[in-house]
Amino acid sequence: SLAFFNGEFLPTESVVIPIDERGHQFGDGVYEVIKVYDGKPFLMREHLVRLENSAKAIRLEMPYSVEQLEDLIHEGLTRAELRDAQVYLQITRGIAVRLHAFPDAPPSVSMTFRPSKSLTEEVFNAGVKVALLDDERWLNCYIKSLNLLPNVLAKQTAADRGCFEAVLVRDGYVTEGSSTNAYAVKDGVVYTHPANKRILHGITRAAVLQVAAELGIEVREELYTPEFLLNADEAFLTSTTAEVLAITQVDDTVIGTGKPGPIVRKLHAKFRELIG
Ligand code: PDD
Repeated sequence: SLAFFNGEFLPTESVVIPIDERGHQFGDGVYEVIKVYDGKPFLMREHLVRLENSAKAIRLEMPYSVEQLEDLIHEGLTRAELRDAQVYLQITRGIAVRLHAFPDAPPSVSMTFRPSKSLTEEVFNAGVKVALLDDERWLNCYIKSLNLLPNVLAKQTAADRGCFEAVLVRDGYVTEGSSTNAYAVKDGVVYTHPANKRILHGITRAAVLQVAAELGIEVREELYTPEFLLNADEAFLTSTTAEVLAITQVDDTVIGTGKPGPIVRKLHAKFRELIG
């Protein structure tokens, strides 16, 4: 597969990151994951605007404009000859001798272009099991930062329990998944955590809320408890890679009928029309 590092496109295996790279030593950077369907990077502009916002939030100056990044992504996809792909893009505070304070170094930009690993239709049709876990992250979860240790630990604990995802709980309320946004459906209304500092403002989330509005499905961006989730009629996750994915079990509790419900299925079908 193909990679990009500081101005050059190279085979992924041949890119070596210097040991004093700040992404490597401090996790001092931000990232995005963009999915490419049939040659078209989906919601690319939205992802790159969020990247700019994440960079700004950590006082990192973007070395490329959104337009330049769009051109680089298109160039990478062409070079990699990929139609259905996942683009990973990260920007860090560069390469400098290890000292915590900001270095006087240009930011590093790296990307990988890989064939997409989409979930199968069987998974979408069956839904997934999730585990409720404590949200042990910092207070700026709206920043798509490289520091994913709590997310990695939560995902692994979920996997150890045979679950697809960890759904996180902070101060008695469901926030989001370790790499997804989370939703509960009760009496035809979709509930999801407000887009504040406690969650990542998912690009898929914004698209799905738009789709829900078009379908006349009411959405409330409100706090809800784990108990509310356990008693929901339906529940689901969204992300770039998981699209709209039904939650059919939370720990030992079956959600609704144990199958993806009508609202999740409608939202996913309409979402797929956007991909078009
Ligand atoms: N994860 N919440 C968290 C904590 C995330 O890491 C992600 C994305 C989402 C969903 O956001 P979006 O719809 O913009 O993909 C929510 C990416 C895919 C990842 O880290 O691989």
